[in-house]
Amino acid sequence: MYPTTRMRRLRRTEGLRCLAREAGITPGGLVLPLFVVPGRGRREDIPLMPGVTRLSPDRLAESAETIRAGSVLLFGVPDIHDRDDTGTSALRDDGPVPTAVRLLKRSRPELVVITDVCLCAYTRHGHCGVLDARGEVDNDATLPLLARMSVVHAASGADMVAPSAMMDGQVAAIRQALDGAGFTDVGIMAYAAKFASAFYGPFREAARSAPSVGDRRSYQVPPTNRREALREALLDEREGADWLMVKPALPYLDVLVELRRASLLPIAAYQVSGEYAMLKRGAMDGMWQERDAVLESIISIERAGADAVITYYAEEIIQWICT
Ligand code: PBG
Repeated sequence: MYPTTRMRRLRRTEGLRCLAREAGITPGGLVLPLFVVPGRGRREDIPLMPGVTRLSPDRLAESAETIRAGSVLLFGVPDIHDRDDTGTSALRDDGPVPTAVRLLKRSRPELVVITDVCLCAYTRHGHCGVLDARGEVDNDATLPLLARMSVVHAASGADMVAPSAMMDGQVAAIRQALDGAGFTDVGIMAYAAKFASAFYGPFREAARSAPSVGDRRSYQVPPTNRREALREALLDEREGADWLMVKPALPYLDVLVELRRASLLPIAAYQVSGEYAMLKRGAMDGMWQERDAVLESIISIERAGADAVITYYAEEIIQWICT
């Protein structure tokens, strides 16, 4: 019998189907992103991302009781009046993110808590760093702020920080600050290959973080530049990153495959807000079965080499595969 025919027969038998499978999804490999607003008792819908909400720390801790994903990734969404030119509220240890981390670590100590480190939701202009006199993002002046923000998150109990500002040298600056403050065991998940993507659209509504002037193209990698993305990722590895990340996921699977070959670090892929919204809207409009389309997309991402997938669908996926 031809070997491929034998595989087809194996797949037909329920118990053998798993043995014939090359990629599998596990709850431990899924990361659920969560948006945190200040205050108490708040739960807000995000119209562009049906099914995703912004929660205050108390509500978030409540809903975390049933979270089955192995990790969460927290994004702070301060109120507009708490934003200024340099993002000072990002450094407050009573801000929404540190508060949520402390509550989560009390109620779910085994849940891995990762925090996003970036200024775009904390600055009035919505850029990921501070601006110089010409109104351009000032890379080097932003580094100490990202480093201090990381230390605040670590002090509140975060297991890992995920710097997404795309400033050069941010991983090294954060590693040095964490070590200096005694947080040598807090990891860094580097948004290594982060492309300037249209698919972040719904996120900017969720985090209310669209830049008021200009765009992020000066500090995010253009979609055309595969080699530049790989170079950035390998620099992050050298600066001390513990994880690398490719983002968005589906349109950049080729980069994921190449990065898998180029680095021995674990790699996460971020199925971003626009990818979520497409899958969701397609399902709502009857274009496909939500479960089938979502699982196929996650399996594709894992097949390309991701060790973990960051996805707003994490909880639904676990429900689908574990029941
Ligand atoms: C920037 C940041 C963005 C996302 C995560 N961190 C948006 C951006 O660069 O504009 C997007 C995530 C998503 O779309 O789900 N701090």
